[in-house]
Amino acid sequence: SSLQQVSKPLASCSVDGENEYANLDWDNLGFGITPADFMYSMKCSKGGSFEQGQLSRYGNVELSPSAGVLNYGQGLYEGTKAYRKEDGRLLLFRPDQNAIRMKMGADRLCMPCPSIDQFVDAVKGVALANKRWVPPPGKGTLYIRPLLMGSGPVLGLAPAPEYTFLVYASPVGNYFKEGLAPLNLYIEEEFHRASRGGAGGVKSITNYAPVMKAIGRAKSRGFSDVLYLDSVNKKYLEEVSSCNIFLVKGNVISTPAASGTILQGVTRRSVIEIARDHGYQVEERAIPVEELMDADEVFCTGTAVGVAPVGNITYQNRRVEYQMRAESVSQELYSTLEGIKTGIIEDKKGWILEI
Ligand code: COI
Repeated sequence: SSLQQVSKPLASCSVDGENEYANLDWDNLGFGITPADFMYSMKCSKGGSFEQGQLSRYGNVELSPSAGVLNYGQGLYEGTKAYRKEDGRLLLFRPDQNAIRMKMGADRLCMPCPSIDQFVDAVKGVALANKRWVPPPGKGTLYIRPLLMGSGPVLGLAPAPEYTFLVYASPVGNYFKEGLAPLNLYIEEEFHRASRGGAGGVKSITNYAPVMKAIGRAKSRGFSDVLYLDSVNKKYLEEVSSCNIFLVKGNVISTPAASGTILQGVTRRSVIEIARDHGYQVEERAIPVEELMDADEVFCTGTAVGVAPVGNITYQNRRVEYQMRAESVSQELYSTLEGIKTGIIEDKKGWILEI
């Protein structure tokens, strides 16, 4: 099985004199790259299937200058996290959902894709091989980044003749430099994140470089991130560069419907389910930007971001501030989700993979 392919090289990949923890300042993790010891890679040639994946030391990869991913952006990425429980075991949160999303993206970008089992086994293998890089409970997580790319050479615009699936990892803390403080968002009107019929609904690498300009501009004005509007009507909420968005009004929680231009976040889907379990009415629909003006609460969700409250949003030189309530909906959903992910709350949904 592919699990054996992961675990065999694993034995030969132990670090000499291994300590329980890598030598790192665990109290000051941000969201930067601190490469863990090992990465996983597996190749597939055109018409073939992915096989013989293996772990190796983290390091540079060699690519042809005419690789499909470098020339035509034929690439996808995923993000998932490993948590360390108090008893030392590692927990993964719904890695099968990332595998399924990668399959959808691979179909959209004309790439072959590892099977769900291959994907999950690779993520498990990377988490276990890098266990000393998984932060102590409460200090952060090991962020695991699977990549799928056209690595073979092409010149004409066409799918690449060879594909590489890579998984690497880095310990991380909070995504935003604000830490857990409420975010201040800027609504962008010139740039859009995705267009109808494009690839906004899948985790194509091509969705990310084009928003850097908007993020840079917003950050230079003191904002945390950018909230985008739909590119057709310039009126409906889409998402933030790095996460999905939710609004709360009374007992109703709303989020933009994932109808093609919205990334189908694993955290988004999980939060919707938890909110419904907690008795909220959740609506996935088109949300006009004006609704932000009288929302009780706004929050963002994402693997990297978690569940982050929004403190204010600026739109057309108007700023709406949200009052931070002691018992906010986002706090309630965040603590339930974090509780499940860290093994403090019993997982009744089969979301947790203990490894
Ligand atoms: C994630 O939340 O895992 C993402 O992929 C967002 C990325 C911008 C860090």
